[in-house]
Amino acid sequence: MSVIHRAAITGVEHYFPEKILSNADMEKLVDTSDEWIRTRTGIEKRRRVSPGQASSDLACKAITKLLKKKKMAAKDIELIIVATVTPDMMFPSTACRIQEKMAATHAWGFDLSAACSGFVFALATADQFISSGRYKNALVVGVDVMSSIIDDHDRNTCVLFGDGCGVALLQPEPEASSLGILDHLCHIDGKGGEFLYMPGGGSLYGTSSDTLSKNMHVVHQEGKQVFKHAVTEMARVSEEILEKNNLSSEDIDYFIPHQANLRIIESCQKKLKLKDDQVIVNIKDFANTTSATIPTCMSQAVDDKKIKKGDLVLIASFGAGFTWGASLIRWAF
Ligand SMILES: CC(C)(COP(=O)(O)OP(=O)(O)OC[C@H]1O[C@@H](n2cnc3c(N)ncnc32)[C@H](O)[C@@H]1OP(=O)(O)O)[C@@H](O)C(=O)NCCC(=O)NCCS
Repeated sequence: MSVIHRAAITGVEHYFPEKILSNADMEKLVDTSDEWIRTRTGIEKRRRVSPGQASSDLACKAITKLLKKKKMAAKDIELIIVATVTPDMMFPSTACRIQEKMAATHAWGFDLSAACSGFVFALATADQFISSGRYKNALVVGVDVMSSIIDDHDRNTCVLFGDGCGVALLQPEPEASSLGILDHLCHIDGKGGEFLYMPGGGSLYGTSSDTLSKNMHVVHQEGKQVFKHAVTEMARVSEEILEKNNLSSEDIDYFIPHQANLRIIESCQKKLKLKDDQVIVNIKDFANTTSATIPTCMSQAVDDKKIKKGDLVLIASFGAGFTWGASLIRWAF
């Protein structure tokens, strides 16, 4: 990849809402059990927003912490890219809502929809703006309030998801630096659309009493199909990006996969021949937070002093669309 200035992630933060829903709490909502959820998914609890708390609110909490840590003012931010499938509203964009709430008066931005691959796609997008030399401070936000589009009476989906936000600051590295974002691979295949989708509320099925009565404003999923493709494609794209960069899984310090199901993560780990301590996992406590899984894992791993400057980090995602992708990052701080 030829670049003028390599972009680097120079800061990460996360925020999870305070309310915790354990598997025992889910047992009160649907016909399920702690044992089924743990053994099939690895999930023990998830976070939920309080009434009135939207994606932009989670994002502002994480961004405020990040700016404080970096000793930056909101007006220093030039670009905000928000990966989400649960925007505050259809429009204006959540990027606009965040810009206003943060008083990031010098920033423009937009929302990006790629479901669970949102953060990887947004990172690849922001990388272009930084590596072209045109921007110096970009925020990549991965945020989802999945509880706003989950049917709490559908045991097939409601146990799987949680709410949360992770944010990364992208800045240019000095020209000779070997640190920063080394490469991305992003893929889509619309044939997967029938297996994971939310049909109502868009231009195809605008909101009506009919779409409401048919429960079309919530996530619909064929779990087995999604599972199968997620395992295959996350492992394949990880192998693909390693091979493209003449690297092997032994060169990776940390692998951060999208957190959809612990069994998907373990299958990828096995295919990539990675050891347990190379793989970052937070699904047990936070479930699948869609766009937020990878940046929250990144932020927690930095806080835990696992990921450090110079480490080679591989991230990989898979989501509705289907969408999938990977990035290779030489950690810069
Ligand atoms: C959803 C998922 C956990 C189901 O696991 P699974 O091992 O495929 O489950 P199975 O298909 O073997 O079992 C399904 C059965 O469990 C039941 N079941 C589903 N959810 C349940 C729950 N929460 N509690 C108890 N039983 C449940 C189903 O009704 C079905 O019962 P049936 O066989 O009587 O019809 C799994 O397929 C998965 O994680 N898929 C990927 C989902 C995902 O990651 N989506 C996000 C996009 S990245």
